[in-house]
Amino acid sequence: MRTPLVAGNWKMNGSREANRALVSALKGSLGDIQGVDVAVCPPAVYLAEIATDLSGSVIALGAQDCSDQEKGAYTGELSGPMLAEVGCRYVIVGHSERRERQNESSAWVAAKFVAAQSAGLIPILCVGEQKVDRESGRTENVVAEQLDAVLDAAGVEAFERAVIAYEPVWAIGTGLTATPEQAQEVHAFIRNRVASRDPRVAADLRILYGGSMKAENAAGLLALDDIDGGLIGGASLDAAAFTAIANAAGERVVA
Ligand code: PGA
Repeated sequence: MRTPLVAGNWKMNGSREANRALVSALKGSLGDIQGVDVAVCPPAVYLAEIATDLSGSVIALGAQDCSDQEKGAYTGELSGPMLAEVGCRYVIVGHSERRERQNESSAWVAAKFVAAQSAGLIPILCVGEQKVDRESGRTENVVAEQLDAVLDAAGVEAFERAVIAYEPVWAIGTGLTATPEQAQEVHAFIRNRVASRDPRVAADLRILYGGSMKAENAAGLLALDDIDGGLIGGASLDAAAFTAIANAAGERVVA
């Protein structure tokens, strides 16, 4: 059985004051929500204090990136063990904004995935095609390349302790959402690709959708067989919207 996960990617948003208000609103509105795992991924500089604010709540903490190295002369980077030490359970790796702006290759993302797991973190591996890839019929090729790099480096068993987020790049922050059919098609493709290496791992693997998921479209996406939650950007900064998505996910239980 796959428990859905709804994770908020705050990206480079927030301040001490805004974070306190958001966390306190979320603790109130999510309460002891059941049937769904919930996490927030704030900017790294705030992780330690948000970990304290979240203690005793159902909300887990995640980071937005981690180094592929454990320690040493890597100015500006943060290691998996550091993130784990301040209370993170999850870490996003390979977000398209980093693949693009920081030129993160699939091999580099795979090394981050391995490093995160060695530190006991659960990586949320982001994959997804650009608009031009979709328009030229290359969606599956792109997603396969991003996924295979990690499957090859980490081994399929590593996906017993990982989450995948399918995020079509053209849908991120644009207000354009993949239709439920488009999303389900790629989610099924991802699950089948993992299943070709190990069907049992694939059956238990949580595959989230990300890309302009909001309260209004969440239920339609989450109702689909292979969509096990969401990675939420913009709407995760609004406690009511994020809670509505978490509630929609909590109502979906996959046997
Ligand atoms: P969005 O971002 O919900 O604002 O589209 C999703 C993401 O980038 O993880």
